[in-house]
Amino acid sequence: MYKKLQVFTKTSNFRQAIKLVECPLVKPQDEEVRVKNIFAGVNATDINITAARYFTDGKLPFDIGLEALGVVDEIGSNVTTFKKGQPVLALTSSGFSEYVYSSPKNLVPLPELKPNYLVTYVNGLTATIGLDKAGHVKAGDKVFVTAAAGGTGQIVVQWAKHRGAYVIAMTSSEKKAEYLKQLGADFIINYKTDNIDQVLTEKFPDGIDVVWETVGGEIYSTLFKHLAIRGRMVVIGSITNYSSEQSHGFGDVPISNFQTKIVMRSLSVTGFMLLNYHDCFPEYFGQLISKVHKGEIKAVVDLGEQTSDGKFFGLEQVARAEEYLHGGKNLGKVVVQIQEP
Ligand SMILES: NC(=O)c1ccc[n+]([C@@H]2O[C@H](COP(=O)([O-])OP(=O)(O)OC[C@H]3O[C@@H](n4cnc5c(N)ncnc54)[C@H](OP(=O)(O)O)[C@@H]3O)[C@@H](O)[C@H]2O)c1
Repeated sequence: MYKKLQVFTKTSNFRQAIKLVECPLVKPQDEEVRVKNIFAGVNATDINITAARYFTDGKLPFDIGLEALGVVDEIGSNVTTFKKGQPVLALTSSGFSEYVYSSPKNLVPLPELKPNYLVTYVNGLTATIGLDKAGHVKAGDKVFVTAAAGGTGQIVVQWAKHRGAYVIAMTSSEKKAEYLKQLGADFIINYKTDNIDQVLTEKFPDGIDVVWETVGGEIYSTLFKHLAIRGRMVVIGSITNYSSEQSHGFGDVPISNFQTKIVMRSLSVTGFMLLNYHDCFPEYFGQLISKVHKGEIKAVVDLGEQTSDGKFFGLEQVARAEEYLHGGKNLGKVVVQIQEP
C-alpha cells in the first residue's frame, strides 16, 4: 500500500480540502513508469485547484500536486526510455503522493536527485517562457517583478538579468531583499514599508517596460499606472484573491478609461498560463536543467528547516507548507520531502 493526498471538499482552505488515503501499490501498466516520490513542489495555485477553479473536472475526490521528484521504481514492459533508479521530475496532477504513475512523456530525466530541480518546472518554465514569449523582455528594459524572492520570482529576476534588463524586485522583508541583491536585482522595493506609487514616481519617471504581475488588487492597478509607453504587463497570478471562497481566483480590478490608456500609450496587458505553452517546454527545460546543474541559475528551495516545527517531511506536512507559502514566509520554492530515498 502507499499513501497520497486527495481533495474531498472543494475549498481554497487546503487543510480542510484534503484527506490522506491509502491505495494498493500495483505494477505499472505496460506503457507506464512508477516513480517513488521523494520531493513534491508546493505552488501558490494549489489552493485554486483544491477549490476546483481549474485543472480538474471537479469530480470528488481528486488528486492534488503538480510536481514530483523521485526515482524510477518500476517500469512497464513496453517502456524503453527509462531505467530503474534513475532520478526524474514528474509533471503530474498527483504530486502529493508517495508513488506516482506516469507516462514516460511526462517524465524529465535529471542529472541527480536534488529538490532544487523542482524549480525548473512550474516556476522555471513560467518565468522564462513568460518573460520571453509574453513579456518580450529585451536588453535595457526596466522589469518590475512581484513576489520576487519566491519560487517563480527568483527565476524571473535571474532570467531578466540574463536578457540584459534592469530589475526592480518587490518583496516584503529585509532577509528576502538580501537574497534578491545576491541574485543581481538592481533596485528593491519592500511593499510593507515603501509606498510603491511614490517610489516609482520618484525613481522611474519614464515608467516600467515590463511588469511581472502575480499579486492582484491594488498592486495591479498601481503597477498598471506606471507602465512606460509601449510597456507590457504580464498577468501571471493574483495571489491576494486565491484564499477567498467567493473569488474565481483572480480579482476584477476596474481601471478607468482602460481602452483609452492602452491605445494612447501603446500598452499591452497579456495573460499567461504555462499549460498553454507546451510546445516551448523541451527547449526551456533543456536550458533550465543545464543551468541549474552548472550553478548558473540559483534555484533555492525552502523545506521549512528554519520554522519552529522543522522541516516539511511527509504528506501530513503538506498543509503546513501550503500555509507557510500563503503566509508569505518562504524564501525560494517551497518543497516537502515526502519520504526518504
Ligand atoms: N500563470 C501561470 O502559469 C503561473 C505559474 C506559476 C506561478 N504562477 C503565479 O505566480 C505567483 C507565485 O507563485 P509561486 O508558486 O512561485 O509562489 P511563491 O512566489 O513561492 O510564494 C508566494 C509569494 O507571494 C507573496 N505573497 C503571498 N501572499 C501575498 C499577498 N497576500 N500579497 C502579496 N504578496 C503575497 C509572498 O512573497 P513576498 O513576501 O515577497 O511578498 C510569497 O512568498 C502566484 O501568483 C502564482 O499563481 C502562475
